[in-house]
Amino acid sequence: MDPACGVIDEPQLSLIKRIYYSARDGMAIALYTLLNDKSDAEVNYLINQKVLEDDGQRCTPLIVAARYGHIKVVRMLLDKFKPDLEQEGTVKFNGFVIEGASALWAAAGAGHLYILKTLVKAGADVNHTTKTNSTPLRAACFNGRLDIVKYLSDHQADINIPNMFNNTCLMIASYKGHLDIVNFLLDKAADPNKKANCGATALHFAAECGHSAIVYELLKYGAQMTKNVSGMTPLITAAERTREEVVEYLIKRPEVTKEEKIDAYELLGASYANDKDNYNLNMAYTYLWKAMRLRYSDTENIIHKQLGSTVKAYENWKECETIESLESIKFNPNAIHMESLAIRERILGLHNPELPHPIVFRGAIFADNARFDRCIDLWLHALKLRQLNDISIVTDLLRFAQVFSQMIHVGIDLDISQVINVLDASVTELNRNKIKIQNPNSKDDIDQCVEEMESNITTTLYILTILTKLMTLNGNSDESDLTQAHHLVHKLCALKVCLKDGQTLLHLAVNAETPVDDFHTNDVCKFPCAATAQLLIRCGADINAMDNERNTPLHVIVGYCKAISDFATLHSIIIDLIEAGAHMDTVNNRGDTPYDAVTTGVAKIILRTRTKLSLTCIAAKAVKTYDLPYRGNVPRSLESFIELHGPGLNQS
Ligand SMILES: *[C@@H]1O[C@H](CO)[C@@H](O)[C@H](O)[C@H]1NC(C)=O
Ligand SMILES: *[C@@H]1O[C@H](CO)[C@@H](O)[C@H](O)[C@H]1NC(C)=O
Ligand SMILES: *[C@@H]1O[C@H](CO)[C@@H](O)[C@H](O)[C@H]1NC(C)=O
Ligand SMILES: *[C@@H]1O[C@H](CO)[C@@H](O)[C@H](O)[C@H]1NC(C)=O
Repeated sequence: MDPACGVIDEPQLSLIKRIYYSARDGMAIALYTLLNDKSDAEVNYLINQKVLEDDGQRCTPLIVAARYGHIKVVRMLLDKFKPDLEQEGTVKFNGFVIEGASALWAAAGAGHLYILKTLVKAGADVNHTTKTNSTPLRAACFNGRLDIVKYLSDHQADINIPNMFNNTCLMIASYKGHLDIVNFLLDKAADPNKKANCGATALHFAAECGHSAIVYELLKYGAQMTKNVSGMTPLITAAERTREEVVEYLIKRPEVTKEEKIDAYELLGASYANDKDNYNLNMAYTYLWKAMRLRYSDTENIIHKQLGSTVKAYENWKECETIESLESIKFNPNAIHMESLAIRERILGLHNPELPHPIVFRGAIFADNARFDRCIDLWLHALKLRQLNDISIVTDLLRFAQVFSQMIHVGIDLDISQVINVLDASVTELNRNKIKIQNPNSKDDIDQCVEEMESNITTTLYILTILTKLMTLNGNSDESDLTQAHHLVHKLCALKVCLKDGQTLLHLAVNAETPVDDFHTNDVCKFPCAATAQLLIRCGADINAMDNERNTPLHVIVGYCKAISDFATLHSIIIDLIEAGAHMDTVNNRGDTPYDAVTTGVAKIILRTRTKLSLTCIAAKAVKTYDLPYRGNVPRSLESFIELHGPGLNQS
């Protein structure tokens, strides 16, 4: 066994693991026994090896012992075996994966003060940052451990190192609401006016989370009110998050102008009217009224609203401009909701990422009350805002599939153009995912994108199925709607997306095992679905695409077991596939052609009749290929058929 040459034999691998597990499980004596009889060089090698666990942690014995608080192990390792204190590993805390964590960081993150002290005394670097540039002190600020923060600071830790987003320790303590740590850091001259990359200061974070005491403290130390990259001041951030106490406090600051006060009150009221967690109609009205009063407080100088155009999704609501008009809607919840949505859009602006959430919330409430038309208008509006800002859509497309299905199931009119809008968004989203997967920033990115892609593909399939219901139901569909729908499905097929198992949309459309979301969607979407398959085929889906087992859609459908109870579906899909040119002779990984893969007598018969017909095709093709005279020699009805089989046409 020669560690230096990098070849690790089995017994040594298991020794590395035994050493690691003893450290992880706090078995100091067992660990000592494993290492005691080894040479210095061997110990030095063994002790610094990392072991990857199923949960993704990848640590040395020292890091894992620090992580789980095994002081005896840590002491013994330090005293007897001199491990490298600055080795980095990957640790997990509450589902967060931290890469590049030193043993000291792990001890700080887990809150083991005693171990932390031991490591610092042994000479561990107090400023050693993780991959995202988080210091041990930052980990303690996050967890609210003043004792650890103090100890590190007393031992020359730098309290001003920000993480990779330029987010400082003061910001994280302010965000998490740890007043004692905020005080300590400010006393140590932490700068309250540092800005993170998003333009936010510690004051923004404290205000956003409603930590009033921290807000006072920061202001006492000279924090200024500035705008973050979305143009939001701490006051506006607090109002948007319905942090009443913070709003009332900040609004009294001398630097706040009257216009800013009005905006803050209006936004606070408007946010109360549509907040998922803090919905409160009384508070909403109270603050809308306060703002309006302020507008008219100086009769010499009334501050009028600067209104833009109305928004259809908000029922084209026109905002109240006088106290009287506001008072007239006091007892009309819907009016206050719409007034509030309009106000939020005016004050926050179309590009603010906070704007859509309450719109989605209001839409969901409409859906719960079976006001689907209103729900869809609002969600489509939210969808538009998302795409305007090129942000991945939070209004889950699946929600649309659910509501659309519910409407169709209950028999409520659903406008095809709305479904087309959502299909458009799906295609955009799939395209975005595809590009991301092709140009990943990191491994995590890929894994996540691939997962999202899986569910976004099935959601898109549901939307397609819903679309087919409308295309067949209303024979009166607008011509331009249909053209647009086909155009989108063409675009979709051109993306050639598929699941991890290689199934394309067409495979999924003809597969009885395709999962269907069970919240309303399964009332409408069932697979195999002949109409969905037909739509895909017409719009250029690859008929002969193979999944990872080399099954084509034809292989899949001939395995459909409800051949008798759902004969129409089986028949229609097989015919459509074959007519569109599905090959009968491709073999899958098991060496089976579609014909071999047939599981029912019914499917077998359909295939057989089709194969015969294709003999006619072959004959027709031969006639054309060899330019045999046929006009007048064959029945007239066959002439056009033969015509179809000319070279360069259709089948060739
Ligand atoms: C940590 O950073 C502080 C401030 O920059 C510095 O004074 C101290 O020496 C550093 N400690 C170590 C161990 O590098
Ligand atoms: C982080 O802040 C420093 C100054 O505090 C600045 O020089 C640097 O450009 C900032 N980094 C980014 C990515 O904004
Ligand atoms: C600042 O802007 C971001 C968007 O860039 C916004 O989401 C956030 O809530 C605002 N407030 C804070 C404290 O960053
Ligand atoms: C795509 O799928 C992911 C994971 O289920 C989901 O969070 C996301 O909202 C989906 N995207 C859209 C646009 O529906």
